[in-house]
Amino acid sequence: MIRFSMIELVKRGLSEDNVWISDSRRMSCGIGKCGHCRINDKYVCIDGPVFKFSEHKTLID
Ligand code: FES
Repeated sequence: MIRFSMIELVKRGLSEDNVWISDSRRMSCGIGKCGHCRINDKYVCIDGPVFKFSEHKTLID
């Protein structure tokens, strides 16, 4: 749902660098120990939890 909303915002003219996504829903321990929030080489709790859409779209579950 979030991803589709972001795509629609970009379609309506917002820059991908001005659209931000919070991935805090993935977090569990919040201190980089459990690995629950890991996407590729990113830890949401350490590297985020808020990402620009341009960066977030490169993260694949
Ligand atoms: S929430 Fe546990 S490693 Fe990120």
